[in-house]
Amino acid sequence: MNKRKILVTSALPYANGSIHLGHLVEYIQTDIWVRFQKMRGHEVHYVCADDTHGTPIMLRAEKEGITPEALIARVHDEHYNDFTGFHIHFDNYYSTHSDETQEYSETIYHRLNAAGLIRKQSIEQFYDPQKDMFLPDRFVKGECPKCEAQDQYGDSCEVCGAAYAPTDLKNPYSAVSGATPIKKSSEHYFFSLSDKRCVDFLRSWTRTGKHLQPEAANKMREWLGNDEENKLSDWDISRDAPYFGFEIPDAPGKYFYVWLDAPVGYMGSFKHLCVRDNLDFDAFWRKETDTELYHFIGKDILYFHALFWPAMLEYAGFRTPTQIFAHGFLTVNGEKMSKSRGTFITADSYLKQGLNPEWLRYYYAAKLNGTMEDIDLNLEDFVVRVNSDLIGKFVNIASRCAGFITKRFDGKLVDKPGYSAMQKLVDERFANWHPSSIENAFDARDFSLAVRQIMKFADEANEMIHEMAPWEIAKDTERNAELQRICSLGIQLFYLLAHYLKPILPETIRQVEKFLNCNTFTWPQLDENEPISQLLLPPGHTINTYQHLMTRIDSKQIDALVAANTQSFSMKQAETPKKITESNNQSPIAPIVETITIDDFSKIDLRVAKIINAEHVEGADKLLKLTLDIGNEQRAVFAGIKSAYNPKQLIGRLTVMVANLAPRKMKFGLSEGIVLAAGNGGQELFILAPDTGAMPGMRIK
Ligand code: 2FM
Ligand code: ZN
Repeated sequence: MNKRKILVTSALPYANGSIHLGHLVEYIQTDIWVRFQKMRGHEVHYVCADDTHGTPIMLRAEKEGITPEALIARVHDEHYNDFTGFHIHFDNYYSTHSDETQEYSETIYHRLNAAGLIRKQSIEQFYDPQKDMFLPDRFVKGECPKCEAQDQYGDSCEVCGAAYAPTDLKNPYSAVSGATPIKKSSEHYFFSLSDKRCVDFLRSWTRTGKHLQPEAANKMREWLGNDEENKLSDWDISRDAPYFGFEIPDAPGKYFYVWLDAPVGYMGSFKHLCVRDNLDFDAFWRKETDTELYHFIGKDILYFHALFWPAMLEYAGFRTPTQIFAHGFLTVNGEKMSKSRGTFITADSYLKQGLNPEWLRYYYAAKLNGTMEDIDLNLEDFVVRVNSDLIGKFVNIASRCAGFITKRFDGKLVDKPGYSAMQKLVDERFANWHPSSIENAFDARDFSLAVRQIMKFADEANEMIHEMAPWEIAKDTERNAELQRICSLGIQLFYLLAHYLKPILPETIRQVEKFLNCNTFTWPQLDENEPISQLLLPPGHTINTYQHLMTRIDSKQIDALVAANTQSFSMKQAETPKKITESNNQSPIAPIVETITIDDFSKIDLRVAKIINAEHVEGADKLLKLTLDIGNEQRAVFAGIKSAYNPKQLIGRLTVMVANLAPRKMKFGLSEGIVLAAGNGGQELFILAPDTGAMPGMRIK
C-alpha cells in the first residue's frame, strides 16, 4: 500500500463561546474521516486550536474582570473537554495565542511584504471616544438608513435587509459604551489581493477542479469575476490598539487582524505537534511537497480559506491546501437553532444529560454527504433512527448470537470443517457485495452513503439469522453443531460490520474489539475477486462474554435536553451581561434612553393583538407578515422576526402591538403598526405576550 502523509484541520473555534451541536457537525465529520484514513494505514495528523484573538474576546475578558489570557486558558479547557467527550481525537489541540503561530504570522507577513504585496492606507472609521477604541462594524448600532428601524448593526439591517457602511447609520451609538462615535482616520495595512499576481493565481487555483467542491468553485467564480473584471479588493489585515492579538513587526500599536493569524494557527498547532512527536514540519509545508493538506470548514468561511489563505501561502513560499472541504449549517427540527426553543444545544449539556455522544456521531454520519448542503437534526427522527439502526440492527446481531456461543460452546466460534460451510453461506449471500463501495463512500466523505450500505449489510445479516432461527435450533441438543455454525456466522458478520462502523463509533467498537478478543481493527482490504469470507475471524476463534454495548434513546431524554437548554439560557441571561462576538448577533444590554413623562407614554396606544395569520414574505430575508386582530379591526404588520419564529407557531397567539404608529410603506406593502419584542435580533427575539385572560383589542396602560 502507498502510505500517504496527510495533515487535516477543522476550523478553529472562537475562544469566547461554548461548543454547540452546530459546531460538532464539522468536528465529527472530520474526526470520522481522519479515523477512517488512519484505519487504512495512512500517516494522518489532525490538528486544531482555539481562535483566540480579536475585539470580542478582549471585551469579554474585560467584562469578566480577567485578562484575555485567563479567559482563553479557561475556554481552551472547556472546548477540549467537549471535544474529548464526543470522541473527537485531535493529535494536537492548541491555541493561536502561541509563539509558533506568532512566528509563522510574522514570517508570512515579512514575505508578503518582500513580494510587494503589503501596502498602507489611511482609512476613516467610527471611534468610541469614551472607550478610546475603533469600533468594528458589529459594535456600532443605530437606525437603519433605509427603513429607520432602531438598534440595527453597523453592517446590515435585520428588518429590511439593507447592507451599508456603519457610517451610514442614523443616530449611531457605540454598542460597547453607548457613546456617540466619532469618525477618525488611521493607517491600516492591506494585503494586495487585487494585485494581478494574486488574481491570476487564484483564478487558476480555484479552477483546477481539484481543490474545491463544485459548489464552492462556482462561488469562487462569482467572487473572482470573469477574466476581464477584477472583483477582488485588497484585504485590511491590521487593527489598531487596543486589540488582543499579535503586534505587527515594526508597527507599534498595529495588530494583525484575527483572521490573518487564525489560519496560521493550523501551522502553529502542527509545529507544536512536530516538536512533541519529532515530525518534519517542512515536509508538510514546503512548496512541491507530496504530502497532503485538507481543511474542513463551514461554508460561511469559504472566502477566507479559498481566497485569502491560498494566496497568503503561495506568496509566502509555502504549499497551498490540497483540498478544502466545506459543509453546510445545522438546523434542528427544520429551523435555525434557537435559544428560546431550547434547540441551541451545547455540547456540554448533551454530555451532562447523559446522552451517548455516539448517537449523535451516528446521526450526523447518516446525514453528511460531502456537499455544502445544510443538514437537519430532527429530534424525533434522531431517536427513531439511532434505536432502529444501532440497537435494532447492529447490536441486535451480537446480542442474539453471543449468548449461545458463550453458554454452549465456551466462547468458541465454529472450527473446521463446519467453518467452510459457514464461509460458503456467507460468500453465497454476499456474492454481489464488495466492501470497496463503503471504502469509497468514506473517502469521498459521503458518510450517508456509507451508512446506507452498512445498514443494508446489517439487514441482510439479520435476515439470515432470522431465517436460520438459532433460538429454535437451540431447543434440540442434537443440532448443536448447526447452532454453533449459525451463531458463529452471526458473530462473524457482526465482526465485519463493526470494522465499517469504527470511524463513526470508536468507543463502542473498542468494546467490540475486547468482546471479540481481537487486536485493534484496521480497514479490511479485499482484492477485487476475493470472496468476503477472507475477511472473517479464523476457525475456532474464541470470544469473550457479551456485555451490553449500547442503550436505546428514550425520547424523554431528548425532552430533558431541550428543557435544560431552554432553562440554562434564561438563567445565564439573568446572571451575566450579554456576551459580544464578531460572529453572532449579540450585544450588551443597551443603555436606558432619555426619561419621558407619563403624558409622553400615554401617547402610545398599546393593544393586545391576536395573531390570526402569519406568513413568509417572498423575497424578504427577515420579515414575517402578521395579520393582527385588535378587537374591532385587523391590521397587517411586517415584523422582522423571521430569524426566530416559524410562522405556524405564531398563529393563534396573543401579543402586544403599537396601534397608533403612523403606517409605513415598505417594499412588501403597508405596515400598520409594530409588535413588541425583546432581544438582540437573530434567534434572540422574544415577542411579548399578555397574561391569560387578556382579550384582543384591550388597551395596555
Ligand atoms: O468562524 C470561525 O469560527 C473562526 N474562528 C474560524 C477560524 S478557522 C481558521 F481560519 F482559523
Ligand atoms: Zn432597515
